Amino acid sequence: MKWTNPLARCNKEKFGKKDVPVAGKIENWGDYDTVYLGFPIWYYAAPNVINTFCKGYDWHGKTLHIFATSGSSGIGKSAEKLAPYIEGANIADAKRVTSASEIV
Ligand SMILES: Cc1cc2nc3c(=O)[nH]c(=O)nc-3n(C[C@H](O)[C@H](O)[C@H](O)COP(=O)(O)O)c2cc1C
Repeated sequence: MKWTNPLARCNKEKFGKKDVPVAGKIENWGDYDTVYLGFPIWYYAAPNVINTFCKGYDWHGKTLHIFATSGSSGIGKSAEKLAPYIEGANIADAKRVTSASEIV
């Protein structure tokens, strides 16, 4: 099934505005000062599972680097849309990347 098919899981998630369960939990979250959060752009924003992931942690005092891959779109408002779920984080940067060397 092509990802553009409305019945594809990615589209049911996105347009159903569903919380998507995250596999696993970072037990020692408090040990990290800096977090790199990467995802593919889905319809000009992060996939819903990224929102669910962000909701699961306390972001106060974390320095956050947001990066995304995409077919062609820029990072757009992806970071702003994540804002309600990463309250207290200091967003150091938010950018679309095309190679790993652009992340750090
Ligand atoms: C449901 C869905 C929505 C997507 N929406 C966009 C989009 O709005 N803009 C874009 O440039 N790419 C979009 N893409 C493409 C993905 O961002 C791209 O495939 C992803 O970053 C992974 O890159 P890769 O396939 O080269 O590994 C979408 C892909 C899927 C599956």
